[in-house]
Order: sequence, then structure tokens, then C-alpha cells
Amino acid sequence: MIVEFQSQLASMRNNLPHKLIEIDTANLYRTQVGAEGIANEDLATLKTELERVHQSLTVKSSSGLDAEFACLNLHDHMSASLPDIVSMAEAIRRFEEVAVIGIGGSSLGAKAVHQALAAIGATTSSPALHFLENVNPYPLRKLMQRSAEKVAVICISKSGGTVETAVQYLILRNWLEQNLGKSRARRHQWLITDPERGWLREIALREEIPSLPVPPRVGGRYSVLSAVGLLPLAVAGVDIQALLAGAAADAGRCLADDPKKNPALEVAALFYLLDIKKNKRVSIMMPYADPLQLFVDWYRQLWAESLGKRMETRSGKPPAGTLPVRAMGAVDQHSQLQMYLESRLDKIFTFLAFDAWEQDLPIPLSDDDRKFFPYLEGKKMRDVIEAELQATREVVTGAGHPNMTLRLPSLTAHVLGQLIDLYQRVTVYAGLLYGINPLDQPAVERGKKLAIKLLSGGKGP
Ligand code: PA5
Repeated sequence: MIVEFQSQLASMRNNLPHKLIEIDTANLYRTQVGAEGIANEDLATLKTELERVHQSLTVKSSSGLDAEFACLNLHDHMSASLPDIVSMAEAIRRFEEVAVIGIGGSSLGAKAVHQALAAIGATTSSPALHFLENVNPYPLRKLMQRSAEKVAVICISKSGGTVETAVQYLILRNWLEQNLGKSRARRHQWLITDPERGWLREIALREEIPSLPVPPRVGGRYSVLSAVGLLPLAVAGVDIQALLAGAAADAGRCLADDPKKNPALEVAALFYLLDIKKNKRVSIMMPYADPLQLFVDWYRQLWAESLGKRMETRSGKPPAGTLPVRAMGAVDQHSQLQMYLESRLDKIFTFLAFDAWEQDLPIPLSDDDRKFFPYLEGKKMRDVIEAELQATREVVTGAGHPNMTLRLPSLTAHVLGQLIDLYQRVTVYAGLLYGINPLDQPAVERGKKLAIKLLSGGKGP
């Protein structure tokens, strides 16, 4: 009954005409923010460079799943896999608890979309999804107190052997086998991994555990619109078709090589110029909307791991990338804002806000309360958060910090799909502008290898 109501609600939401996210970049320019902003002439001098990077992104994302930037065309190419994903999700939905094991890019995207939509009741309440990302015995122990009959495991790893993911899977697989026997335990497991290589792929083939492939050219942090994000989200009742449609809608507004007609290109160009010309080394993303908290974690990983690249890879140029930082409006007004306003002018701000809240609450006032809070008369909660946002935007601009605001028309799978595509595109454009490879993460690989060496007592790779 609840599921039926929720799916009616989701279909009502998704049948509304889809509005696009409003991207307000005015405060990144000198005309609004003063000397710390970018002059139109600076953007104009980048014209040939922007045409080049746009051409490169277009060519490298246009040959389907074989393309170097296949992550930017998943909205087109995943539709063929939707029937498989949906039928697998249906099988998993028979369970009450679903452990989704994966780390970094193999977790954050789905976790962020799930958190956002669960916060407004737009996911199904059963099964319960448990995102097991870190090496932490407590959530595993809690899950293993449930009856194994009721628990399913989705294990996600592109490489198929990341140690944090492997240890959690080993523990849960063993527990399922101990409780259900090897053969029944297999029917509680699903794997998402490279189509050919790695430990998980070997298990899938050897033990005939149902699995889905991660397209070979799609790396972890760019994989939320592949089976990596789509399967767990379908299990949670998220409209994954709408998620892909939202990404396609964003791609459709980013087709031009002119930054004034392509928001992803404009944002990438401005953030790049703010770094190299104005020494802005910190990029603070501050949603005035709790459901987007984990979205910022997803952005943080995408931006940091894609753009933070060493000097030697840039033939003598300074290191690339700005440090992404998560803040939360209005909470961090009471924590970080003092520093933002009076410390160094080395920051760029991105505010995220909703245009409307589907479920707002009026603020009730007695005569006694009214004496203290006359300005709350007739107000709802959204009026308060909106005033907080406007005030912060104004003081941040007044302090000389470049900032932009993304206004989300509503909180739906479609809008989140837009947001994901926008940031993936901005990140790839920015990487091309810096002259680095936005898809690799050599330093992360070094850390992974060293951890294995330490676990092997100093031996090993
Ligand atoms: O973006 C990335 O490549 C990383 O964050 C990976 O997603 C993370 O290291 C997990 O790797 P894997 O999916 O191979 O287990």
C-alpha cells in the first residue's frame, strides 16, 4: 500500500514538466563581485582554448561506451541495460535488508541520490539499504544480527579487488554461507564489476553469481549513471529512467562551444580562471538543503580526485586543482562563516538551494512569541532558510568572494540527474583546461598498493 502510494507520488512528480536547474554565475564576474571576480575580457581571451576543449570533450564522448569520456553519454547508452537492471532490482527487493558494499566512486553517487530522495520520502521504505563504505565492524555486526534469510548483498568494485570492499564482502559472504549453506547463499548476492577482469568477476563466473558490468572506460567517480548507481537506486524505488533523462536534459543544454550558451563550459572556465588568475584555491560548496549533504561528498571526490594533479604531470606548470570543501547552510553560518568573511580571499563559493519545498511547515506563534519574533509572522520554514541564504550570499559577495548559486526547481530524480551530468561535464572541461587527465588517479593507486604492501608485512607489490 505504502509502496503503491509512493510510486503514485513519484509518477506525479515525474509527470510534471521538467524544469532545468537555474545556474546563476553573475557573482563570479568582476561586474558583481569586484576585483576578485573574472572580467568578461578574461573569458574572451580563453575563446580558442574553450573551443578546443569543447571539441575534445565532444569527440571523446561520442562513440558510445567505447569513448574515452563514455561517462558523459551513459544517459543514452544505459537505456539498453535498464530491463536487466530493473529485473535484478525486483529480485533484490524481496529481501528486507540490502547491504550495498563499495567505496569512493563505487558508493558515493548512489548514496547521495538515495539520501536526497529518501529525505523527502521519494524512495520505498523497504528494503532498507545499508551503504557499507568504510572498514567499520559496527554496521556489519548490526546487520549480522538480522536473519540471513532477509539479507541481500550487492558488492560493487570496478577493479574487482579494492581491499576495503573485499573485506566487507568476505565477512558477509561467509556469514550468509554459514547460515544458509553455500548454494542458497549465492542467491543472496549480486556483483557489479569489470566485465572481464578482477577477483569479483572471477567469483561471478566461478560461482554463477548474478552480475552486471561496469563499462570498461567508465571510472569509479564517473560511474553513478551506470549499473554502479542504477542498480542500488532501482532497488530503493528511485525512478532511474528519470535520473538518466535528467542527465540527458543537462547534456542537451551544454552543446555549444560558447560559454555563454553552455553552462558547464562557463562554470569550468570561470573556476579555472579564478584559480590561475586570482589564486582561488578553495572551492566551498554550501547547500541550503540538508538532503544534498552527500551530494557535496560526491562532488568533493569528483573534483579532488579528477583535478588535483601533481606538478610533473604538467611539464613545469604549478599543480592543478582547487580544494573542494563541504559546508552546510545555515549550520555553518554558526561555525565557518566568520573565517570565510574575514580570512584570506582564496575561496570560491557554490550555493545550492531549492526553489520550492514540497512539504513546508508554517511557524506557529502565540502572542508572547510574537513579541520576540515579530518578523516570523506568517512565515514558513522555507522563508527562513531562503533569508539565510540571501544574507550569506550578500555578505560573501560584499567580502569580495566570487560565488555562484544553483537553484534546483524541485527534488526529483530528474533534477539530480541534471546536477550529476553538470558536474561531470564541468570537471572534464576543467581537466582539459588545466591540461591534465581528469580520469586517472595515480596517487590514489600508489596508496592502495602501499596498504597491500603493509598488510603483507612489507612484501608484495
Ligand atoms: O573514482 C575512483 O576511481 C575511486 O574512487 C574508486 O571508485 C574507488 O577507489 C573504488 O575502486 P573500485 O570501484 O575499483 O573498488
